[in-house]
Amino acid sequence: MKTALITGCSSGYGLETARYFHAQGWNVVATMRSPREDLLPRSQRLSVVALDVTRPDSIAAALEAAGPIDVLVNNAGIGVVGAFEATPMATVREVFETNTFGVMAMTQAVLPQFRARRSGVVVNVTSSVTLARMPLAAAYTASKAAIEGFTGSLAFELEAFDVLVKLVEPGYGPTTAFTQNGGARMQGLIPEAYAPFAERVFAGFAQPGAVTTEADVAQTVWRAANDATGQLRFPAGADALALAQSR
Ligand SMILES: NC(=O)c1ccc[n+]([C@@H]2O[C@H](COP(=O)([O-])OP(=O)(O)OC[C@H]3O[C@@H](n4cnc5c(N)ncnc54)[C@H](OP(=O)(O)O)[C@@H]3O)[C@@H](O)[C@H]2O)c1
Repeated sequence: MKTALITGCSSGYGLETARYFHAQGWNVVATMRSPREDLLPRSQRLSVVALDVTRPDSIAAALEAAGPIDVLVNNAGIGVVGAFEATPMATVREVFETNTFGVMAMTQAVLPQFRARRSGVVVNVTSSVTLARMPLAAAYTASKAAIEGFTGSLAFELEAFDVLVKLVEPGYGPTTAFTQNGGARMQGLIPEAYAPFAERVFAGFAQPGAVTTEADVAQTVWRAANDATGQLRFPAGADALALAQSR
């Protein structure tokens, strides 16, 4: 029976992905910064483990607690929307610490066991902002675009060890806690000079066409984790799929 370790399972795409992998009969190590036992089914195949991907000690402790794993899903992420000019560099760094360096650190920490066993898959969850430009999201897009480049290059050097690296690119998911979790980070990031532009952008955000559901992402992560075709990028959700097809 295979084991997946998933980051950011307290809500949204990560929580649903943990439920989905468990429902498919896998062992799941559902990690979250503040562990909660009440979110997921009680099962011998499911453990909840503390993990903050920005802290090396937390990464080491979580992997020790998890034991051998077959798939790492780097899902944890934070957002920031606002005019880049007004976005403090401390905020830019905070976003990169989780979305970019956290993913790299987690990947580096599991590679020795994957390489030694000559098997294993890393699935990195980025975003459809890497498929088409999104306004007022420069720092967030940069953090996710870095992981797109990272993953594509890494896939080559791991091929010889039969270790796979995949990208899942979800579209806009209004039902996750993403916007709420980023609320404080986004305060005051629209200076007066940008207000007319931002108003038009936010009016567009408020009326999305197609969107992405938690189930779309969970199923796509599952496909990526089990892929044997060599596909690197897996857009997830109707909006992301439409963007990927229009490129
Ligand atoms: N929703 C969207 O529109 C959308 C679109 C495209 C891509 N994505 C990406 O999809 C992924 C999941 O987002 P979501 O929409 O499901 O948002 P979410 O509901 O806010 O979930 C994000 C998860 O990441 C966790 N997290 C944040 N910082 C962390 C850290 N330092 N260490 C470990 N976990 C951390 C959060 O845990 P806490 O509870 O501890 O904060 C939460 O469990 C993210 O990578 C996001 O960038 C989202």
